[in-house]
Amino acid sequence: MQTTAHCVLFVDDDADVREAAQQTLELADIRVEVFADALSALARLRKGWSGVVVSDIRMPKMDGLEFLTEARKIDGEMPIVMITGHGDIATAVRAMHDGAFDFIEKPFDPDLFIDITKRAISHRKLVLENRTLKVELARHSKNVSGFIGQNPAMEKLRTLIGNVASTNAHVLINGETGSGKEVIARNLHEMSGRSGPFVAVNCGAMPEQLIESELFGHEAGAFTGADHKRIGKFEFADKGTMFLDEIESMPLALQIKLLRVLQERALERLGSNRVQPIDLRVVAATKIDLRDAASRGEFREDLYYRLNVVQLHIPPLRDRKDDIPLLFEHFARDAANRFDRPTKPITPAEQATFNAHDWPGNVRELRNAAERRVLGLDPLANGKDDSNSEIASLPQQVDAFEKGVICEALREHGGNVTATVMTLGLPRKTFYDKLTKYGITPADFRKPRSSTDAEPAR
Ligand SMILES: Nc1ncnc2c1ncn2[C@@H]1O[C@H](COP(=O)(O)OP(=O)(O)OP(=O)(O)O)[C@@H](O)[C@H]1O
Ligand SMILES: [Mg+2]
Repeated sequence: MQTTAHCVLFVDDDADVREAAQQTLELADIRVEVFADALSALARLRKGWSGVVVSDIRMPKMDGLEFLTEARKIDGEMPIVMITGHGDIATAVRAMHDGAFDFIEKPFDPDLFIDITKRAISHRKLVLENRTLKVELARHSKNVSGFIGQNPAMEKLRTLIGNVASTNAHVLINGETGSGKEVIARNLHEMSGRSGPFVAVNCGAMPEQLIESELFGHEAGAFTGADHKRIGKFEFADKGTMFLDEIESMPLALQIKLLRVLQERALERLGSNRVQPIDLRVVAATKIDLRDAASRGEFREDLYYRLNVVQLHIPPLRDRKDDIPLLFEHFARDAANRFDRPTKPITPAEQATFNAHDWPGNVRELRNAAERRVLGLDPLANGKDDSNSEIASLPQQVDAFEKGVICEALREHGGNVTATVMTLGLPRKTFYDKLTKYGITPADFRKPRSSTDAEPAR
């Protein structure tokens, strides 16, 4: 851990103690500023200051406890270690109650002193990182909505989205699964100022026979089974945005029809001979290299060029790991809200595991990991996703599964034990034993009073 950037503010009215502490800290490569009285130390403190405080309790003028109270008024999360002498444990306990980080007894053992100080520094670092993340999140939510990321490639993408959104140019988005193609498509629409709706169609999820009438609509009697007239998705998306997901799966015969719609800005329903004008903006998404597919004859080259007026490439999460903490914090907070559970800051060990992971499912996998963690489950121990993490033993996996099922049932019943016990089909005693075993508190699952936190669309 790099401790030199963080400073210790050491307060003691005894010059010998100050000198000894200064030497010990400097030998451990920790920067230190010493003060003989609490008031001058207090003048040095500011909210968000990156250091920690170690202070004697018994001092003339302002004593350590008063100093603690005043310092916490400046920054409520400032870690303050108290030094007690004369076997004054009662005062130390009071200090802990008042929010002291820890205490150390005089005369103190240098190793213990360094150990406690380093812990306080680590803690401070996490608190400040967390604050920065929150500020970043607030900043991001002000522009391209729901699109989080400050990696340079993502910043560039954000600028590009802002620049092309209102041009009405067709856009081709390229990115791996779960990398955020739909998020970007929706943003392009929201920022476009177009008056029509955002209409999404997954070309890969629809049988070939259906997709044509789904997109173009049909007149009654246009084909066997077409009892009623049907408005197609293109018509719905008039003056809005047509999001064509997995565009590479669009049948070749339909590709030429789409090309005609885009070129002629006109549409003909199946079974109709009336051509109607249409104002479409297409945002297409693909996981593959569409130019490659076009050169192999698997995708119409003319359509590729027509759609590829602007191409947005979303880098996979493994190439922008610096965005993981920000995204994780966002998803964890969102999940904690929905599940009505508390959030805990990520530990350095977890951070390291996340950095070592490849994230084949990209941001979606990270979102799931954050949700699992909020539910008290191992974030990465999910099916294939955990190829890089250690495989848990069978009993551990069974426990994790059981805990998940119980939490899920409690959540469903808003923390109501009777209803949950009935759903799970367990004797009440067994249920309570399991709550104890997994450290689950039903009250944590009570629904929040406000109903404004609607689950966001996925
Ligand atoms: N930059 C981002 N900021 C915030 N959330 C994101 C971001 N990228 C992706 N997500 C979230 O990750 C999940 C997957 O994103 P999305 O559905 O847009 O991915 P996709 O590329 O369309 O995936 P697929 O190829 O599987 O359809 C969604 O919950 C989305 O909200
Ligand atoms: Mg998608």
